[in-house]
Amino acid sequence: MNHIQSYIKAHKDRFLHELIELLKIPSISADSAYKDDVLNTADAIKVSLEHAGCDTVEICKTDGYPVVYGEKIIDKNLPTVLVYGHYDVQPPDPMDLWDSAPFDPVIKKTALHPEGAIFARGACDDKGQLYMHVKALEFMTSTNQLPCNVKFMIEGEEEVGSPNLGIFIKNNQEKLKNDVILISDTGMIAQDVPSITTGLRGLSYVEVEVTGPNRDLHSGLYGGAVANPINILTKMIASLHDENNHITIPGFYNKVEELSKDERAEMAKAPFSLDAYKKALDINEVYGETGYTTNERNSIRPTLDVNGIWGGYTGEGAKTVIASKAYAKISMRLVPHQDWEDITQLFQTHFERIAPKSVTVKVTPHHGGQGYVTPINSIGYQAASKAYQDTFGKTPIPQRSGGSIPIVSLFEQELKSKTILMGFGLDSDAIHSPNEHFGIFNYMKGIETIPLFYKYFTELSK
Ligand code: BES
Ligand code: MN
Ligand code: MN
Repeated sequence: MNHIQSYIKAHKDRFLHELIELLKIPSISADSAYKDDVLNTADAIKVSLEHAGCDTVEICKTDGYPVVYGEKIIDKNLPTVLVYGHYDVQPPDPMDLWDSAPFDPVIKKTALHPEGAIFARGACDDKGQLYMHVKALEFMTSTNQLPCNVKFMIEGEEEVGSPNLGIFIKNNQEKLKNDVILISDTGMIAQDVPSITTGLRGLSYVEVEVTGPNRDLHSGLYGGAVANPINILTKMIASLHDENNHITIPGFYNKVEELSKDERAEMAKAPFSLDAYKKALDINEVYGETGYTTNERNSIRPTLDVNGIWGGYTGEGAKTVIASKAYAKISMRLVPHQDWEDITQLFQTHFERIAPKSVTVKVTPHHGGQGYVTPINSIGYQAASKAYQDTFGKTPIPQRSGGSIPIVSLFEQELKSKTILMGFGLDSDAIHSPNEHFGIFNYMKGIETIPLFYKYFTELSK
């Protein structure tokens, strides 16, 4: 057993206990009723960074929730790693689908987590994963093994699109200066198949409103003679895909990067079982764009999905009514080179154009962000690869993810450094869903692997 392994063994219970305490605070950034909890979580992160050995930690005010910034600078001539994470979480709804309370963490064993997993909102996304970095720092400082400088930037608004982080970065260029950005907020392929995320999708999120008559109408007296906004909206939404599940918005694919045959062949080497995939989701068949595999559909191809749709009467029993309005929330996942603001504009123009004269439509853009891809020959990637090689005994597989962390492309643009995405969650950890969890194995493996990244990054930077 090496030094870090014995340190983890000696402190494992405390590492679990501290994370559990952090998970008890419902830091839901989307719901203003939890404002105090979100702020208290920032304070808790500050205290944890101080205990882990940061020299200075500050709570930096923004127009929204604060950024917790901490640093330990040991030598200006050594490289600097900037760790990013988020202390806010998604709302836990629907509550009745949780087997235990979302903010009352419990440890349970599952088939994929025989050593147990912590069940709580935020366990994997992202409190558990960011706390691996805090504990890795604690190990390095308390055993005198921190090989370089470190900065932490932990935000509280990631789950609502980081509306104030862009300006924070622009205003703090000098403070945030670094040689590499390190993030654990993604996943890996399987417990015995380590992977490094090399791509993230961009995002354009819009809300649409379709208005018909000026009031709700009796569906017998008016039905058939007046446009029903819900009928119209569903028809408009259905028309956004063709029979091959291509998106029909003119210009949507203009900038989409087509991967070469070789790149696609390389991607197809990652272990994947379609049967296991279907079984895990209880579906008979997968679905998607013609000509692409499941792994391509959810990573290198753009998508359009309705996230919510409402209108009319949805209470108990029946009510014969034609609603005045219908609504939907729609997300488009984008791939590198597609500009999210351009796509939002294309969507808006198209949606307004396909609306029949019998209704009016309003498109309201929400948040968005650009996609990201990173090369595998950077020093950062090589350092991460060596770190996983040591702790898993295998070379990690580069993998593009379908999820989005919109701020990553902004980091590169503003801070001119590459981001390395060392994620330790599994797709089955149910992030954003009821019963979110994070494996104890994954949590400890993260704590074990991160210090090696620092070591190799410092060595390779010489
Ligand atoms: N950590 C996730 C993103 C993620 C998860 C990327 C797994 C890759 C693998 C992040 O917290 C998240 O949920 N992002 C949002 C976008 C944001 C603008 C709300 C997303 O992807 O929906
Ligand atoms: Mn996250
Ligand atoms: Mn998330």
